Amino acid sequence: MREHLVYSSPSQVSTMKNMFIVASVFLAPYLMGCGGEDASKDDASAKTQKEEPVADAPDGEKIFRTYCVTCHGIDGKMGLNGAKDLGLATTTVEERIEQVTNGKGLMTAFEGILTPEEIEAVAQYTLQFKTE
Ligand code: HEC
Repeated sequence: MREHLVYSSPSQVSTMKNMFIVASVFLAPYLMGCGGEDASKDDASAKTQKEEPVADAPDGEKIFRTYCVTCHGIDGKMGLNGAKDLGLATTTVEERIEQVTNGKGLMTAFEGILTPEEIEAVAQYTLQFKTE
């Protein structure tokens, strides 16, 4: 080991300096890349936090498209089987929850098919069809 130190010439030292510079140049973008990854991870967790409340609440639109469009149509106006145009309905959310839960005339009773929370969400969703 000692021999190496004794014999290391100035040119060897400068080669080592060059290698250090080269290493820094290659490492710099790598380190910056790591910083970028951390930032995108923060983005992802921020998005998850924003979406959580939506995921927890039943999706009224999705429920309507699954269970109600067969008679009411995608815009609530189809009126198949004597279904009323939901755009003209003047009933309150409470009355709609009651009607969706127990059914009326040819309309299916959704009690047992949908949870009370889902019925409330879909009843709330039908309010947006109001055309007046
Ligand atoms: C089998 C066909 C059918 C399906 C499926 C159906 N409905 Fe109906 N809906 C009807 C009919 C028929 C009426 C009118 C009932 C009456 O007054 O005699 C009606 C009426 C309504 C009304 C009352 C409108 C008013 O004037 O206040 C609401 C609200 C409603 N439906 C919401 C829904 C929702 C929400 C779903 C899905 C969860 C749904 N319906 C699924 C046939 C259906």
